[in-house]
Amino acid sequence: MIPANKVIVALDTSDEVKLNTLFTALHGKDIWVKVGMELFYALGPQIVYKAKEQGFHVFLDLKLHDIPNTVAQGIRSLSQLPIDMVNVHAAGGLEMMTRSLEALKSLPKRPLLIAVTQLTSTTQEQMNREQKISGSIEESVLNFAKLAHSAGLDGVVSSPLEVQAIKNLIGKNFLTVTPGIRPGGSELNDQKRVTTPKEALELGTDFMVIGRPITASSNPREALMNILEGR
Ligand code: C5P
Repeated sequence: MIPANKVIVALDTSDEVKLNTLFTALHGKDIWVKVGMELFYALGPQIVYKAKEQGFHVFLDLKLHDIPNTVAQGIRSLSQLPIDMVNVHAAGGLEMMTRSLEALKSLPKRPLLIAVTQLTSTTQEQMNREQKISGSIEESVLNFAKLAHSAGLDGVVSSPLEVQAIKNLIGKNFLTVTPGIRPGGSELNDQKRVTTPKEALELGTDFMVIGRPITASSNPREALMNILEGR
């Protein structure tokens, strides 16, 4: 059994009709939904209110990355929305992350602030050659996780396969949000390093982000129920 409040369904669409169908299909479950760039840029902040009205926890996944002042002010603006989690790129640096957190501190109940480490689409070869970061992806993920922790952030986005190393290095309370989840037998799409929901849970992930296995299914509710019931 997978606890519903560990599941974040990625609402990757810009089509309001498709979105409403998903809201109806997923309604009544204590799950999270992830509002990313595609949806937020197409349909705007009203989508966040709509998701909250439906009773979902909301992760606003806009991956902010700019100079510290711009990101902190951006986070301040986003914090006016009813969101439960928001994120920035760890590569933006310690000051950018620290100031982002400060921008949330005056709120009566602040959203979780999470850092993106290395995107799961980045290969080691690309990281070494293009970013000029030497070593393995895992070393870079752990470095960014440590930086995010020093800035006081709540956790990081990572592959489920990196969760144990992150928890061993930083501690079990530092949150991990993991995409790259595929129920047994489902399409990999463009995800490469994947685990099943059960494996991700066993590895200690706090939140699993699942998109297409649910949203591209002809019966999203059944797909979600199968995941929650560990089938
Ligand atoms: O459809 P799928 O389950 O692959 O969706 C995964 C979601 O997680 C997508 O919204 C994708 O943008 C996001 N994501 C990811 N890898 C990261 C960060 C975010 O797949 N490192």
